[in-house]
Amino acid sequence: MEILLDSADLQEIETYSVFLSGVTTNPSILSKYRDTDPSVRLKRICELVNGSVSAEVISNEYDQMLEEGRRLASISDNICVKLPCTFDGFKTCEKLSNEGIATNMTLCFSLPQALLAANSGATYISPFVGRLDDIGQDGLALLDDIVELYRVNQYETRVLAASIRHMQHIVQAALIGVDAITLPPQLLKQMFLHPLTTTGLEIFQRDWQKK
Ligand code: E4P
Repeated sequence: MEILLDSADLQEIETYSVFLSGVTTNPSILSKYRDTDPSVRLKRICELVNGSVSAEVISNEYDQMLEEGRRLASISDNICVKLPCTFDGFKTCEKLSNEGIATNMTLCFSLPQALLAANSGATYISPFVGRLDDIGQDGLALLDDIVELYRVNQYETRVLAASIRHMQHIVQAALIGVDAITLPPQLLKQMFLHPLTTTGLEIFQRDWQKK
């Protein structure tokens, strides 16, 4: 399972780059860095990670989405153009995919949207697990259904679990068999930690120092 970082923080991306298969951003994430031109930041992220870097269009209409998608893709070969699961988004995905540009269909909340993404030639589909849980639905059940849908139909679109909120989401997504997961930095950091590793290490150190 690919692990991506859901962040545009250059320092964190550099620190964890060896464990990353890519990075995902969205307009909310990039809006935290008004001091830098987003294209410059995206280019720098592409230099830091060896993998796909999702960059989302801001426009909602086909013509502008297409233009924006092509402009984003010209930043680097690593760029994966992120498009919303809307009529115009799927149409843009279909066009960009035919041009050989990688795409990530975002804000996916249903199986029909996942089906349309695969038929539009999307590279990735991003079901938002946490945001579905937030409204009392089962985000992991949707992940499971999409993985099964793609398996049965032998679709090539990769399932990228997004909107991940806690460790159980990570573990369950991995067991479901998603292709990739994007994590906020605080969750990636938690993956390295276990209290018994910390105390075990302290005991080893203490015993080794004993005379
Ligand atoms: C992924 O591509 C999205 O940027 C992200 O996972 C959204 O997460 P959130 O629901 O915590 O904002």
